[in-house]
Amino acid sequence: MKQIIGHLALLGGLLFLVNCSKASIEPTSDAMSSVSSDPWGQTSDGRAVSLHTLKNSSGLTAKITDFGALLVELHVPDREGLFEDIVLGFGQLEPYFENPAYFGCTTGRVANRIAGGKFSLNGQAYQLATNLDGKHHLHGGNIGLDKRLWDGSTNIVDGIPSATFTYISPDGEEGYPGNLSIQVTYLLTEDNQLRIEYRATSDRSTPVNLTNHSYFNLAGTDEGTILNHELLLMANSYTEIDNDLIPTGKIGTVEKTPLDFRDSTPIGDRIHQLPPQPEFRNPGGYDHNMVLNDYTGALSLAARVYEPSSGRIMEVFTTEPAMQLYTGNFLDGTIIGKNGVAYEKHFGLCIETQHYPDSVNQPDFPSTILDPDEIYATTTTFKFSTD
Ligand code: GLA
Repeated sequence: MKQIIGHLALLGGLLFLVNCSKASIEPTSDAMSSVSSDPWGQTSDGRAVSLHTLKNSSGLTAKITDFGALLVELHVPDREGLFEDIVLGFGQLEPYFENPAYFGCTTGRVANRIAGGKFSLNGQAYQLATNLDGKHHLHGGNIGLDKRLWDGSTNIVDGIPSATFTYISPDGEEGYPGNLSIQVTYLLTEDNQLRIEYRATSDRSTPVNLTNHSYFNLAGTDEGTILNHELLLMANSYTEIDNDLIPTGKIGTVEKTPLDFRDSTPIGDRIHQLPPQPEFRNPGGYDHNMVLNDYTGALSLAARVYEPSSGRIMEVFTTEPAMQLYTGNFLDGTIIGKNGVAYEKHFGLCIETQHYPDSVNQPDFPSTILDPDEIYATTTTFKFSTD
């Protein structure tokens, strides 16, 4: 964490002064890229929610709501130039109030698992919400960042449309120390990248590990499983886990395991080697934290996904040291999403760039602690092309 922050220390508090116009009601445009904002219902306590639309000059379109700062739609062309929405989710706001699968959301304060929801920091013990089977902390707790209403605004700078979301998570929220000011910006670049920039500052030392929890299906969200997607990962190793998917602290090699994606391989080829374990409520499939090679904190290639029928390619670059590879194992047909599709097991692929799970309890893992004199700053970008 210190390494990333070192480069940014001089920026001080200026990051929160980034010039973003308030959400525009009428579409505005600069060249052919555009931003617009539309009313999208209200929270259960009556606060207005918006849906912000970003479009670049070649038509790549992202729709993001200020509820959960979450990605609702992402329209990307196939090899014939036909655009299709490639992220799972809902066509209206209300199902996002529950959203047990975490479709599209900004996840935190600490994404992934914290064992027993416990950690100690500067001599003080903390107990977080244990929202994972009453045992562990998952994705920020009962009402994590994914279920908060953020303050959203849009902007276009040099033809690049963006939407910025801010939220102040108060001291003690879900058990975390410190008032945490968070800013998440989504940008659509002219070379078809959806770039997500995360910034945060805190008035007390606190763990932070933010990610985006989009489920991609590069064939389109009506097209069934992602088992034919070919995956390349820049990961020689992974964090070994126990039966609750909590890291043991050991780093394992992917060699001779189904986690070896060092050569591009269809996801379905070896997924049966990760069978269900009903006794541990594990439906089977990939749900592993992959350790990215040669971490420096610079934006580097983490993954490349290729879907042969559409020709769509997604490359993921990140400043993070790891990513959770998750193949939608808990989807079981009970969630009805966009276009009335029942989302079955493996209908979506998540590449959740982040620090390692349970880092607060693993001194040898890269630190997730943000101190008050530091700025949390990470970037992940999803770049789209075709074959
Ligand atoms: C993450 C976790 C999974 C699951 C999903 C949400 O990817 O690693 O175990 O909790 O989120 O369903």
